[in-house]
Amino acid sequence: MILEQSPAATQSTHSSRRTFCTSLCAVLAAAALRGRAQTPPFPGKEPDPQPLKLTDITRAEMTPGRVVDYRKLGAFYLAADDRGIFALTAVCTHRGCLVLSEGPTGFGCPCHDSAYDFQGEVTEGPAKLPLRHLEVKAMEPTGLLQVDIATTVSPETRI
Ligand code: FES
Repeated sequence: MILEQSPAATQSTHSSRRTFCTSLCAVLAAAALRGRAQTPPFPGKEPDPQPLKLTDITRAEMTPGRVVDYRKLGAFYLAADDRGIFALTAVCTHRGCLVLSEGPTGFGCPCHDSAYDFQGEVTEGPAKLPLRHLEVKAMEPTGLLQVDIATTVSPETRI
């Protein structure tokens, strides 16, 4: 015995399949976009569910040349140059070790000796990509600096 569907039922099945595929594509695209916005701090690890990190330092305390270590709070450094304050991820772009601050000369990776300048540009490999610059905001009314470790900004960004 062969069961056949009526043309209307076949049309309905195709329509609901198309709707399902469209919905699935939308969900996958949204997930891909979210994944791009929230880069995991370490390769193979999930993004931090709380990417906003409130530091204990104010905008006024960040004088040019200063680097403050927040590797324990969220794997980043706050730094300031003549143009203002910025945040850099501490995650080496080679294989994800945490880089060490070398003061105003930059950052060095203890794993395979990559080196970065004060703005996070690679000065010595094997790393090929610069350190990510992260979004920084001064909170009101305290002036405390908050870093969003999931949001990458242009290396030129300062506050
Ligand atoms: S992980 Fe930093 S140089 Fe390899």
